[in-house]
Amino acid sequence: MTLLAAATAVRENAHAPYSNFKVGAAIRAASGAVYVGCNVENVAYPEGTCAEAGAIAAMIAAGDTVIAEVAVIADSPSPVPPCGGCRQKLAEFGAADVKVTMATLAGASETVCIADLLPGAFDAGHMG
Ligand code: THU
Repeated sequence: MTLLAAATAVRENAHAPYSNFKVGAAIRAASGAVYVGCNVENVAYPEGTCAEAGAIAAMIAAGDTVIAEVAVIADSPSPVPPCGGCRQKLAEFGAADVKVTMATLAGASETVCIADLLPGAFDAGHMG
């Protein structure tokens, strides 16, 4: 299964009754293992979590720590980029040149790298 197919499949499990906007994400770790996540909304809106955050949590829980590739998919008019918080979360575990493919159910896709998503990222080096 491709990374995008894994993201597409897990998107079906999203809990998005408030936005009605389901998102699926899949991460290939450096080990080769694939981890998936979907958005999980909550009636207390700020408690909802993004698909990317779910995939990262699954990766860390399984013992992998390095992101090699990411795919995100939603049923949107154009490819949906990760939110600001998820960009920072991806940068925690993925190098600047890690590819992030954003896709739509209709078949559009765009691939960028983590550095494109988070230029000037805050990292440990800034703490001296
Ligand atoms: N969402 C994600 O899961 N990932 C993204 O990259 C963009 C937005 C979710 C959060 C919320 O459940 C819904 O999409 C609408 O913002």
